[in-house]
Amino acid sequence: MIYSLHNLAELKPFLLPRLAEIHMGDRGLLAKLGFPFVLRYFEVAYKDPRVIGVYAQDDDSGELIGYGIASPAPESLTSQLTNDKSWFVRQIIKLFFTRPHVFIQLIISSITIKGQMNNENDAVECVYFSVDPKYRGQKIGRTLQKALMDRARAAGYKKIFASIETWNKASLAATLANGFTIVKTFREGMYHRHRLESKL
Ligand SMILES: CC(C)(COP(=O)(O)OP(=O)(O)OC[C@H]1O[C@@H](n2cnc3c(N)ncnc32)[C@H](O)[C@@H]1OP(=O)(O)O)[C@@H](O)C(=O)NCCC(=O)NCCS
Repeated sequence: MIYSLHNLAELKPFLLPRLAEIHMGDRGLLAKLGFPFVLRYFEVAYKDPRVIGVYAQDDDSGELIGYGIASPAPESLTSQLTNDKSWFVRQIIKLFFTRPHVFIQLIISSITIKGQMNNENDAVECVYFSVDPKYRGQKIGRTLQKALMDRARAAGYKKIFASIETWNKASLAATLANGFTIVKTFREGMYHRHRLESKL
């Protein structure tokens, strides 16, 4: 299969739901919050000029097969999910009654996230990268993350961070192969994560 990489800014907006759909294959908190949250997150990231985003597209079929997002201020992406207050409150009430364990994790993560994220001006966070299950195991994930690193370096950043759940062998293998090292391992509610970093 031949595929090409593109900057997120080049994506036609009507394809954002497809990226959100790919993200639903992730087992992290954002996907657990549900598709409306994921789609809103991609809409926010798409508009944020500080976001470094890349997506992979199958050259033959035109199908979107994966994406990666990095940001120097990842917490500002999540905080923008509350911009439309009535939408946010409705989603949170629904979450509280349908998936209370996810609601509790959201509270825990919101409280602990600040202490975990980098505060370095010249650093970015590899926030998410995901590949459609049909296309996994062909080095596309690793290539997407490498593309984020190259673009972050070109933008002048000197360091990149990532947090990966300890069970996530594919993500860990890709990230270590891209030159990251594990700097600590910690618990955040139901999650057990490695914190990784790499020079750019
Ligand atoms: C993580 C993910 C993006 C990797 O994408 P991918 O295209 O399948 O991975 P690659 O083919 O680039 O493989 C990267 C490395 O992982 C290894 N790997 C791939 N699948 C694996 C698996 N299921 N178990 C263990 N290792 C695996 C590969 O051998 C490769 O290692 P190497 O470079 O040392 O040979 C993909 O599994 C995914 O979308 N997962 C769901 C979303 C997610 O968890 N994202 C990461 C959040 S931190």
